[in-house]
Amino acid sequence: MKESNDELLHEARSALKNSYSPYSHFNVGAAIRTEDGKIFTGTNIENVSFSLTMCAERVAAFKAISAGYRSFTHLAIVSSSGAPTFPCGACRQVLIEFNPNLIIRLEGNEKEIFQLADLLPNAFTKTS
Ligand code: THU
Repeated sequence: MKESNDELLHEARSALKNSYSPYSHFNVGAAIRTEDGKIFTGTNIENVSFSLTMCAERVAAFKAISAGYRSFTHLAIVSSSGAPTFPCGACRQVLIEFNPNLIIRLEGNEKEIFQLADLLPNAFTKTS
């Protein structure tokens, strides 16, 4: 399993190269793995109308969802900050729709395993 997590972080790192972040200069890359092992990547996309900015995690998830995937097991996140970058609140809410048990890997904190439900306790879900 270690190897596949390394691969996911590697894919997220590759995606970061395409970050469009001329305003914050904060580059983010994400990679999400489907239940059957397919990987979709994303990067943050900013806009001069700042609030329209989209996070890397949601780009990755939306690419996968729009390709027909609904089951995800792991998400990896890397950033240019040099510190582990956690998904923002909006991304947590979008991701929990599909799997509260999603495992999240952060570059710079590879040993720790985060589970989405722990990052968004008492979430509003379909069963709320
Ligand atoms: N950003 C992400 O892509 N993911 C996160 O989880 C945190 C923030 C982006 C949005 C914006 O382009 C930049 O990082 C600074 O907030």
